[in-house]
Amino acid sequence: MSFFYAKESAHNYDSQVEMTSEHYVLAHQTLSKLIELNFSGPGVCNLTDLGSGTGAVFFHLINKYEQINMKAFDISSEMLGIFKQKIEEAGLESSNTKKVSYVLGDVRNTPLLRKTLSRVGQLGVTSVTSAFMLHHFHPVVKMQIYKAIADNLNKGEKFFLLDLFDYHDSEFSKFALDVELDWIRKNFNGVASANTQEKESILAERDKWLNHLISENQLVPIGWQKGQSSISEEELLTNAGFSKVNCCFKYFQTAILVGEK
Ligand SMILES: C[S@@+](CC[C@H](N)C(=O)[O-])C[C@H]1O[C@@H](n2cnc3c(N)ncnc32)[C@H](O)[C@@H]1O
Repeated sequence: MSFFYAKESAHNYDSQVEMTSEHYVLAHQTLSKLIELNFSGPGVCNLTDLGSGTGAVFFHLINKYEQINMKAFDISSEMLGIFKQKIEEAGLESSNTKKVSYVLGDVRNTPLLRKTLSRVGQLGVTSVTSAFMLHHFHPVVKMQIYKAIADNLNKGEKFFLLDLFDYHDSEFSKFALDVELDWIRKNFNGVASANTQEKESILAERDKWLNHLISENQLVPIGWQKGQSSISEEELLTNAGFSKVNCCFKYFQTAILVGEK
């Protein structure tokens, strides 16, 4: 699988991401609202963000808490570099109240993931989130990651998963993919025609995104359907140790699942 957007195109990520996901901002706003509603601590948010990228989760939460302690875990030094730069630009690099520690690594590295998720040194409520990353992995790999998360949460604590998912119904599955692809085509074509000099590189970027969605994503369906034979994301989470799983947001492939330990 290629993470072109997190390596050679990391500098374009923030400016292009809404061109690749119609309700990217709304989904992040909903995620931060759900996190806010589920933290009972006095204004303190201790959160591990898997695949943090350039810090979307952190920056959506920044004004909701007096104190944020975030562990930002990502495989791309380029994406984490941009996150750090944004923290500096916000004047937060030596803040005692809005703190980010960065972990450069692969979530498939189970010992590193478990170490990152462990509670050592953490105070108050602990939780885990991940946005737009885990759909790249085979269900077997996801299970390892979900188990590591569930094992490190206490009863009642939650994992907030914003990601892309599939439908059990193949017609809906195709329809949802087409909606996502049309959004990318429409936006990149619009920018390319307005800016002829950069047209080729913008269209090349568009094609990478289209190819990524068509051939690199490994989406698991959510929702139960009579007679279903394939695995559901809710089952993966339940099998990993979450006692309840709720879907709180859904727009074609994009959805938020909240798993409760
Ligand atoms: C689509 S971006 C999402 C970034 C951010 N969460 C957001 O919502 O904008 C996916 C991120 O996951 C990271 N990623 C991909 N594979 C990873 C892996 N195996 N381990 C850790 N991070 C990974 C990428 O580097 C990238 O920053």
